[in-house]
Amino acid sequence: MQADSLFQMQNNTKTLTSDNPYFLLSTEQNRTIEAHHMAQAQLGLEEQGWALFRGFEHNLDIFNQVVSNFCHKLTFDPARKFSSNMSQKVDAGTLAIGLHTENGNTPFPPHIVAFYSQKSALTGSQTTLCDGVSFYHSLPEPLQKRFSYPISVTRTLPKELWQTYVANEHPELAPGQEINFHHLQDVLNMVPGQSGKLNAQGELEYSLVVSPLQIKNGKIAFANALLGPSFNYEKPSYQFADGSYVSQSELDLLAAYAEEHTYELQWQDGDIILIDNTRIMHGRRAIEGDPKQRKLVIAMGRN
Ligand SMILES: [Fe+2]
Repeated sequence: MQADSLFQMQNNTKTLTSDNPYFLLSTEQNRTIEAHHMAQAQLGLEEQGWALFRGFEHNLDIFNQVVSNFCHKLTFDPARKFSSNMSQKVDAGTLAIGLHTENGNTPFPPHIVAFYSQKSALTGSQTTLCDGVSFYHSLPEPLQKRFSYPISVTRTLPKELWQTYVANEHPELAPGQEINFHHLQDVLNMVPGQSGKLNAQGELEYSLVVSPLQIKNGKIAFANALLGPSFNYEKPSYQFADGSYVSQSELDLLAAYAEEHTYELQWQDGDIILIDNTRIMHGRRAIEGDPKQRKLVIAMGRN
């Protein structure tokens, strides 16, 4: 089926609502998030891949405490600005953003991604969530099969970006220490499937093998960054081991199928959502009006 006709069939927008047991809605204004709320959120992550807090007391410190409760090691995207020592601002233009796992094209994608809406837009800019498990099971068999093989993701990274990444991930670097080729080599050796060489400008010509499918607790999820944006990075090329490239028409078709499994989160001030980044892909509808009306913070980590 063509992607266009699939999109036309699927214009029924679905929204996350509080009738979900893991959409935790505080009955009292500004209630403190307690241990039993965290336990419920943990169940939500395990059972459906996300949990949301609404109406609770909130600030940047509380957000960081919540995320720390679920993640041991926090990871950062070197292309983003920091809001605190643990979280970063989401600032990626105003266009819609395709579904992706956060940092899915890096060797250390986080297990958990969390967003906190300090200030919410009145319309538009909904965050989108797509359950990779139901999405995978809805795909026609030839597509399931095609994406069951590893894919090489190749692109050129500017010097500043790869150096910041190495500084974050290298286990033995002191803060502020100068990053050299040996540190880069150490990080390339930490995870199999990576290769890279520096060009004359000091940019890294980098390639990483990723699996488009993630398997956890016996469930298969289509969860990767193939449909995602490249705001802060060069758009990568995606190639299978047989030499064939993932085509734009294949990506369009996947995006059309994914829409059927996509839910929107219409943000309210103080909302905090936790997302299992190994199962759920997220994105964003286009921002309407002044982007400054919206202040969204991201944090992520591994558990
Ligand atoms: Fe993202």
